[in-house]
Amino acid sequence: MISICLVNNLTTEQKIQCNQLIDNNFKVNRFNDYTNVVIYILGNNIIGFVGIYDNLLNQLCTNIENRRSGIATKIINTCIKTMKKPINLFIDKHKDTTDYLLSFYTKRKFEIEYENDVEYKMIYK
Ligand SMILES: CC(C)(COP(=O)(O)OP(=O)(O)OC[C@H]1O[C@@H](n2cnc3c(N)ncnc32)[C@H](O)[C@@H]1OP(=O)(O)O)[C@@H](O)C(=O)NCCC(=O)NCCS
Repeated sequence: MISICLVNNLTTEQKIQCNQLIDNNFKVNRFNDYTNVVIYILGNNIIGFVGIYDNLLNQLCTNIENRRSGIATKIINTCIKTMKKPINLFIDKHKDTTDYLLSFYTKRKFEIEYENDVEYKMIYK
């Protein structure tokens, strides 16, 4: 099940699971910045997450055991369907995953709005 909701409406257990997913995937945890989230729930577990504030998507991640089954795509598509456009996100440069992520978002109709030495800013219009 996929759900877009206010952070304030998450249960304590859901907040814990979101934080665990973020901590498993990123060095920095920005959970407290988000007003809304899209979560993908399987059984009792949150296995996919993206944080939202303003029109910005951040920290998209899926459980490592559930990758390549379309979960992140469903999360992105939910954002595209429900959020005001344009939607933005950033991709860090100089990481192992930079090229993969650039290709991942480009296939999902995000374009490079600008880039500098450290990151790409992507836009969905
Ligand atoms: C980036 C990330 C969120 C992608 O999650 P995911 O759930 O694997 O994404 P999807 O399954 O929707 O798509 C991944 C690939 O699997 C492919 N795929 C989707 N369903 C599939 C299936 N049933 N069988 C095989 N491949 C499939 C997709 O086509 C896609 O490849 P493509 O980009 O070449 O089209 C995940 O790798 C992750 O959490 N990475 C670590 C955190 C991170 O770096 N986040 C990005 C922040 S900007």
